[in-house]
Amino acid sequence: MSLSVDYIRPDVRRMSGYVPGRQPAPGSRMIKLNTNESPLPPAPAVAAAISGILGADSILRRYPDPQSLKLRRVAARIAGLREEQVIAGNGSDELLRVVLDTFVAQNETVAFFNPSYSLYPVLTRIRGGRIKELPLFRDGAVYQPVLADLSEVKLFLLTSPNAPLGFSFTNDYIRELARNLNGILLVDEAYADFAEDNALKLINELDNLIVLRTLSKSYGLAALRVGLGFTTPELVAELDKVRDSYNLDLVAQTGAEAALADQDYLKKTVALVIRERRYLSKALLALGFKVEPSQTNFIFVTPPAGLRAEALQIELEKSGFLVRYFADPQLAHGLRITIGLHAEMEQLINTIKQVLEASQTAIAATYIQVT
Ligand SMILES: Cc1ncc(COP(=O)(O)O)c(C=O)c1O
Repeated sequence: MSLSVDYIRPDVRRMSGYVPGRQPAPGSRMIKLNTNESPLPPAPAVAAAISGILGADSILRRYPDPQSLKLRRVAARIAGLREEQVIAGNGSDELLRVVLDTFVAQNETVAFFNPSYSLYPVLTRIRGGRIKELPLFRDGAVYQPVLADLSEVKLFLLTSPNAPLGFSFTNDYIRELARNLNGILLVDEAYADFAEDNALKLINELDNLIVLRTLSKSYGLAALRVGLGFTTPELVAELDKVRDSYNLDLVAQTGAEAALADQDYLKKTVALVIRERRYLSKALLALGFKVEPSQTNFIFVTPPAGLRAEALQIELEKSGFLVRYFADPQLAHGLRITIGLHAEMEQLINTIKQVLEASQTAIAATYIQVT
């Protein structure tokens, strides 16, 4: 008799799942700088709008709007596009899956840079697609990797600004990549609200471009699970066939509409993050760290010689800070730190100073023993 696991697709059986950053139990006193959430709560209008619907009779009995129309309208207005050019998803993660399901058939190729968002290979494997991982290297001060033959690429997933390194690709680069492709270019702009530029303005210029945004970072709504996709009306109509019909619940639609409507609040959050990003970057540079210039709400930093990134992550955790260490050989030299409130950044810097001092004392002690 077969075991039930024998019925699982062999490729699914073989693959590993995505590993999300740690989420400590609610009420934990850890300072959470590991999954790029907002240091501020969402705009106050969000809670007010959600409690409004919860109090209303009969609303929860009914299905929500399957088209998320009001939300798409607000999103379109802000982006300077039409509502037929917007699709809403249960997080941008769902939209990534919908895009793969819409464009990528078995054995077709999905390309992305390594490092970028580590969900891409997982989704490609689930889809039965082929993975083309391209190395990401820097030419002087900017990352503009030369693109080899892309003729077989059906879908290119470009994280811009890049996660976990933090730099942005230029719109010239994005335009050229879209034109060189014989397929779809998806620009995953999860962090674009913190960046100087973005690719939304290219939507009406390139008919094979999809731009993804999320409310999980700059809008402080990671728990609500809302992502937005922007592209041509023709592609939205096709993507719409593939997504779940009620992919966004009523609470998510209502909260997201309220959050998008308060653009002043967004601007304040972004200004705070950029100020603290500058503050933390400067302080860590002064302590001998290498700091990747960032267009996001996190920085990728390499500790000075003598202190391994993983050891620093462990020490920080003992002192109450969660930061992200990636064991991937390309990233294991550094840590990704989400930008937090000023007091949190001050505390973090002080703790890092202490860890550095302790590690220097340990090195000096070894040196004295050896000589
Ligand atoms: C590059 C990138 N894209 C997408 C996501 C997922 O966003 P969402 O919460 O909207 O699913 C993340 C989350 O960390 C991300 O870093």
